[in-house]
Amino acid sequence: MTDWSTIEAFPKRTLVELFADDPERLGKLSLDVAGIHFDWAKTHLTLQTIEAFAALAKSCDLAGKRQAMFGGEIVNVTEGRAVEHTAERGEGKAESVAIAQASHSRMRTLIDAIEADALGPVRHILHVGIGGSALGPHLLVDALGREEKRYDVAIVANVDGTALEDVFDRFDPAATLLVVASKTFTTTETMMNASSVLAWMEEHGVEDPYGRVVALTAAPDKAVEWGVDETRVLPFSESVGGRYSLWSTIGFPAALALGWDQFEELLEGAAEMDRHFRLSALHENAPALAAFADLYYTQVRGAETRAPFAYDERLRLLPSYLQQLEMESNGKGVTVDGKPVGRPTAAITWGGVGTEAQHAVFQLLHQGTHLVPVEFLAVIEPYDTLPEEHHRALLLNAFAQGAALMKGKPADDPARSYSGDRPSSTLLLDQLDARTLGALIAFYEHRVFVNGVLLGINSFDQFGVELGKEMAKAAENGGGDFDASTTDLIRRAGLD
Ligand code: F6P
Repeated sequence: MTDWSTIEAFPKRTLVELFADDPERLGKLSLDVAGIHFDWAKTHLTLQTIEAFAALAKSCDLAGKRQAMFGGEIVNVTEGRAVEHTAERGEGKAESVAIAQASHSRMRTLIDAIEADALGPVRHILHVGIGGSALGPHLLVDALGREEKRYDVAIVANVDGTALEDVFDRFDPAATLLVVASKTFTTTETMMNASSVLAWMEEHGVEDPYGRVVALTAAPDKAVEWGVDETRVLPFSESVGGRYSLWSTIGFPAALALGWDQFEELLEGAAEMDRHFRLSALHENAPALAAFADLYYTQVRGAETRAPFAYDERLRLLPSYLQQLEMESNGKGVTVDGKPVGRPTAAITWGGVGTEAQHAVFQLLHQGTHLVPVEFLAVIEPYDTLPEEHHRALLLNAFAQGAALMKGKPADDPARSYSGDRPSSTLLLDQLDARTLGALIAFYEHRVFVNGVLLGINSFDQFGVELGKEMAKAAENGGGDFDASTTDLIRRAGLD
C-alpha cells in the first residue's frame, strides 16, 4: 500500500509563494516532448514533492510494472491479459508488434481496395461502435479530418435511433460503407445499430448490404458468424483494451478518411511518447509528472474532479475521450489484490472547450468551493484563416485564465473577491498534426498507467460497467428483480 504521509506532511505553500521561493521554478516544472510543451509551474508540485513521488513510484515498482506492460506480461490480472496497445505503434514484445503490423497491413490492403472501388462507390463512412470503439476514431476524424473531404464520416454510438436517423437523412445508402466496430462483437447497442443500418440499406435497394460491411474486432469469428465476409474482417489483439484501441484496426475510419500516411504519423507520434515514457527519468518524464500532479490533488488536497479545457476547436472531443480513458481505467474501489483501496481513486474528469467554457462554467473554477485542477490545451499554429486576432484572443484567454486562477484578486466586497491559488497546468502544442496528436493521446494513456500503479489498482479492467448492462438485459427479457420505483418507471413508459 502506498504511503502518502511524507507528501501530506510537506508545508502547503501557495502558488504565488512557490514562484517567489524559487526564481528557477518554471524551468524545473516544464518540459518539451514530441512537439508539446508541458508546464506544471502553476501547480503545487515542487522538486521536493516530485522526489517524494519518485520514491513512492519506486516503492510501487513503477519501473518494473512499466517494463512488464511493454514486455507483454499479464498486467491486467483480473482478466488474465497482457496490455499491448503500445505494440500497435511498434513498441512492445516483438511477437506482438509483428501481429499488430500484420493486422495493420491487412487494414491497409482493404483501404487500397476500397479506394480502387472494389466494394463499389464509397462516399459515406458510417461507423457504429460505442465507448472505446467510437470515442477514439471520432476524436481522430474530428481533430484531423477538416481538410480531407473525400469521405463523409459519421460515428454513431447511441442506441437512440435518432442518432442513426440523423445520419440516414444525409447519407446515400448506395454510397455508404458500414463499419461495425466492437472488440467483443456482442455489444447490444452496436449490434442493434449495425442491423438497423443493414435494414436501411436493404430498404433503399442496396442489393448486397453485407457486401458493404467492414468489421473491426478482436472476435473475428463472431463477425464472420454475423455475416461479414472474412476478407472484410479486420482483427486486432485481445490484449488491446477497448479504450486504448484507436491505434489498432479500430482506427480504420480515420486511416481511410485521413489517409494511410496520416495514420502512420499518428502511430509514430505515439511511439515517440512511448519511448519518452519508458526511458526518461521520472523527474523529466511527462506522463509521470502529470500523474504526480493528479495524485497530489486527489490524495493530498482532496480534489474530486479535474477539468481539461481544449482551447482549440479541433480538440473539442478530447474531454469526452479522456472521460472514458481516465474514469473507466482508474475509477476503481479495490486494489489489484482485491482489497478496498481506502483512498480516492480517479478524479472525475470533466471539461470543455475554451473560450466557450469561460462563459459557462468558469465561475465555479474561480470562486466556487471545489478545488478543481484545470488543464489548458492550446496550439500555437492556428488552423483557421480568419484574421490573426481570433487565434490571438483564443490563446491569450487560455493563458490569462491560468494566471487569474493562480493570482486571484482580493476585494472588499466578498462577492467580487477571487481567492486565487487555484492550480492549472498547460499543454502547448506547436501544431496539431497527426504526429503530435498521437503523442498527446499516448501521454494521457501513460499518465493513467502511472496513476493506477501508485494507487495500487488495475487500470485495465472495467467490471463496473457490467451490472447495469445485465439488468437492462433482464428487463428486456421481461425479468429482473426490480424495486418498486424501477418497476413503476418501466410500467409508465409502457415497457412491461
Ligand atoms: O461497456 C464498456 C465497454 O466494454 C468499454 O470498455 C468498451 O470500450 C465498450 O464497452 C465497447 O465494447 P466493444 O468494443 O466490445 O463493443
